[in-house]
Amino acid sequence: MRRIPLLGSFLLGSFLLGSLLLGSLLLGALACTPGSQTSDAEEAERTSWLAHGRTADEQRHSPLAQINAGNVSQLGLAWSFETGQGRGHEATPIVVDGAMYITAPWSVVHALDAKTGELLWTHDPKVPRAWGRRACCDVVNRGVAVVDGRVYVGTIDGRLVALEAATGKVIWDVNTIDRSKPYTITGAPRVVKGKVLIGNGGAEYGVRGYISAYDAVTGALAWRFYTVPGDPSKPFEHPELEQAAKTWNGSWWELGGGGTAWDSMAYDPELDLVYVGTGNGSPWARTLRSPGGGDNLFLSSILALRPDTGELVWYYQTTPADNWDYTAVQHILLADLEWEGKPRKLLMQAPKNGFFYVLDRETGELLSAEKFSRVTWATHVDLATGRPVETPEANYDEVDRVILPSPNGGHLWHPMSFHPGTGLVYIPVLEYAGFYSLDPDFQPIAEAWNLGMDIEGISEQIANSEIPAAWGELKAWDPIRQEAVWTVKHPGTFNGGVLTTAGNLVFQGTSDGRFAAYAADSGERLWEVLVRVGIVAPPVTYEIDGVQYVSVLAGWGGGGVIEGGDLEVAAAGKWENRGRLLTFALGEKGTIPVPKPLERKLADPLPELGVDAAGIKRGEGLFNAYCLPCHGILAMTTDVVPDLRFASAETHQQFLPIVLGGVRVHNGMASFSDVLSADEVTLVQAYIVERARATASED
Ligand code: HEC
Repeated sequence: MRRIPLLGSFLLGSFLLGSLLLGSLLLGALACTPGSQTSDAEEAERTSWLAHGRTADEQRHSPLAQINAGNVSQLGLAWSFETGQGRGHEATPIVVDGAMYITAPWSVVHALDAKTGELLWTHDPKVPRAWGRRACCDVVNRGVAVVDGRVYVGTIDGRLVALEAATGKVIWDVNTIDRSKPYTITGAPRVVKGKVLIGNGGAEYGVRGYISAYDAVTGALAWRFYTVPGDPSKPFEHPELEQAAKTWNGSWWELGGGGTAWDSMAYDPELDLVYVGTGNGSPWARTLRSPGGGDNLFLSSILALRPDTGELVWYYQTTPADNWDYTAVQHILLADLEWEGKPRKLLMQAPKNGFFYVLDRETGELLSAEKFSRVTWATHVDLATGRPVETPEANYDEVDRVILPSPNGGHLWHPMSFHPGTGLVYIPVLEYAGFYSLDPDFQPIAEAWNLGMDIEGISEQIANSEIPAAWGELKAWDPIRQEAVWTVKHPGTFNGGVLTTAGNLVFQGTSDGRFAAYAADSGERLWEVLVRVGIVAPPVTYEIDGVQYVSVLAGWGGGGVIEGGDLEVAAAGKWENRGRLLTFALGEKGTIPVPKPLERKLADPLPELGVDAAGIKRGEGLFNAYCLPCHGILAMTTDVVPDLRFASAETHQQFLPIVLGGVRVHNGMASFSDVLSADEVTLVQAYIVERARATASED
């Protein structure tokens, strides 16, 4: 069978925020008498994982070195914790005062004893499971923020919740969205100067992006920055939008415009700037979104905001007039490095569009931008104008195109890391192409993807064009020379985020279910275990009672994955995809739990539904509109949601109760009775049966 790189997926949603302890630690240190308190704070910072990116600059580098290149081969499993859920596990564990806080799908929070793995408490924010239909890219969550004895989590249905760290008791629970719109939150909050920052997602469906700040103690809204202008007949919510509105045309606000801030944030306490990445447009195709052109600010941009007020200090747009789902919500990393002989405060980002950007984070000045993955949409970024130079092959207005990178980008949300010792940034790179086919008859539909793409056209392209090879990479990148120093190739594209440590180590998990450590300077693989559950989450490390631990969540999923990514290599195509936290330490010998092998067989006989070829074709169109985001392009996927080709005879009998009656909504399979009739569902079923027959004949 051919390897299908998939259409990619997009975005996800949501946003982020973050936590920033460094500022409060510094203030704490200044405020009290020098001595013990200062060193306690420093010790906690050194041995814990206090914030999403460990520190406010989000370098994801730990100074711990008990585990190092010389002894990492003795790493073994200390303990593991089963979340009891399938689907994508994307969280960064936060470790504070000996406790670890993780999130699982559906925004469920677990607090664990970080030394033993014992469960301290669980908080399920009880997201209505039908909300899963609004999540473009799985019901994932990228983690909590923990500050001053409170745990903050954003929920997939758009709430921001504060919990008591000691007990899990709810302190407050505020709604951050217009609940009539398909918003989601998947990103981790960050806490800066007493405010909890959170964004959201939903640009695939059609929403207007924004980032909000809430008082950390009371949950009151402090400010909100909209990333795109709204209906121009109404007053602008803040002055920056008046400027932004000049870069739009048509009636973009009807579909929201997009620009959702669903993941990255970083904070520089000295400059007092919070950096936020923004997403793609709604819909993707710019000729539909803003007929007549325009850059469409602030899509696909890096924003530098004042944390007290939300005022915009500078912005840099990575992909003006985005046309390919090239978000700039990817990890923003801050470091002070020597640039052309002078120390400079830098901001680095490897957004979806395939260019590695280095900016001066004080002014937003672009210093350099070079390709870190295969890129065919632009030849280069012009440093004089700061703008990419698009290629003719990037234009799919008239002709369907295969373009690199895909809508999932050369780099997606999976965090990078920066090792101050090697001076390198370690990037989890996705190397595969995307398919673009404009839908000239585009009509927005409620509660479904509104990309402006012709999915049938894309399916035809996949069947009929030369598909560029697909793989993943861990790439060690020199941000000053803008070139790769070493690259490790992975068979799958959707691999884990990255951790570096002072032990000259880089840790990363993979789509095919391995977890490994590499020498940070050379890329030599020094240790590896087979965990048989795919990993997308980033590892963390911490120390308790003199022992260093490395922890990572396994549980494959997220955008691109549920739509059928890495079909032939993913662990989730071989074993049950069950979420678990795995914690390793030197000399430990625990057995890694083995998931059950998947048993996939076609129903025999397949049901005869008496639908003709034209009906099957209509069923395909309905499947693409309503089912593909979870059940995969061409109805093929791994064990993150069911691969419907392998539905049993009983499932086929139950097809209408499942799809219209909502009998499986508690497991995330919502009813579609608001948009589909029983006859239409039977057409969808007939298409699925057809796909199962085609699969049988391939074997
Ligand atoms: C938002 C994600 C999502 C979308 C969109 C979605 N599904 Fe599902 N579907 C699921 C999940 C999750 C399950 C697994 C439920 C369970 O474990 O009981 C599922 C299960 C099913 C099952 C049972 C499969 C089995 O083998 O047990 C059928 C049939 C099904 N879906 C059909 C559809 C159809 C038809 C559509 C489009 C009209 C659709 N689904 C759209 C998430 C989704």
